[in-house]
Amino acid sequence: MYASAAPAPAQRPVSVPGLRKMKQEGQVITALTAYDASFAHVLDTAGIDVVLVGDSLGMVIQGHATTLPAQVDDIVYHCAAVRRGLSRALLMADLPFLSYATPERALVNAQRMLVDAGAAMVKLEGGQDCVLEVIRFLTMREVPVCAHLGLTPQSVLRMGGFRVQGREETAQRIMLEQAHAVVEAGAEALVLECVPASLAREITQAIPIPTIGIGAGVDTDGQILVSYDALGITPGKRVRFTKDFLIETGSVQGAVERYIEDVRARRFPTPEHSF
Ligand code: KIV
Repeated sequence: MYASAAPAPAQRPVSVPGLRKMKQEGQVITALTAYDASFAHVLDTAGIDVVLVGDSLGMVIQGHATTLPAQVDDIVYHCAAVRRGLSRALLMADLPFLSYATPERALVNAQRMLVDAGAAMVKLEGGQDCVLEVIRFLTMREVPVCAHLGLTPQSVLRMGGFRVQGREETAQRIMLEQAHAVVEAGAEALVLECVPASLAREITQAIPIPTIGIGAGVDTDGQILVSYDALGITPGKRVRFTKDFLIETGSVQGAVERYIEDVRARRFPTPEHSF
């Protein structure tokens, strides 16, 4: 705890336009969640590109059954801690449930993420008209936005559970249209969660912004996992798209490095982790 950190070689921080450049150059984007400074430092040292302070903290930190109870104050608190652990990775913060129900509310909460907590980008879920309006409102005011389609955990009450999305033809067409719409509204990146690999590939090829997949197959521009899933410490049965990298490496640092290597080499996810 009191060890003095050796000076790390200076590396250029990952920027929002840098993500799009990575897509153009075919470099796979690596991302994981973090909720505290020490873990963020481990990820950063291993060379992760993006760190998300997700509303998944409502589940993995606070122990709730869904992400809905996570509050703006919670994300700001954890995001500020994570910020202190990072020097290179881009820091993304989730806007939690109902915190972007109106454009004005979204702007106030995005200001807290960017100004108070030091994030470089906010993420919000959905591609319906009211969300597109929010994306437009934020991006016109210089707030970089990452959209999120597919399984959007904040819709759990309406969806009645966490399920793979976009299996049927109509749902696939709507998701492709929404992907184009979030780009048109100004989104700089798109998370695709729990969608068939073939649909994620089609969306990835169709839009100019990077896609970051979770349970979306190997052909997205990047991959993200909840870090606790990647370490096999999430309670309950392992979900199909996760993998325990700790068990095969024996250390947290090793697990994070293996995840990054496997994602960059497109060795993860395999069909076994995809739909
Ligand atoms: O909240 C979160 O951690 C997320 C990731 C699963 C993408 O949204």
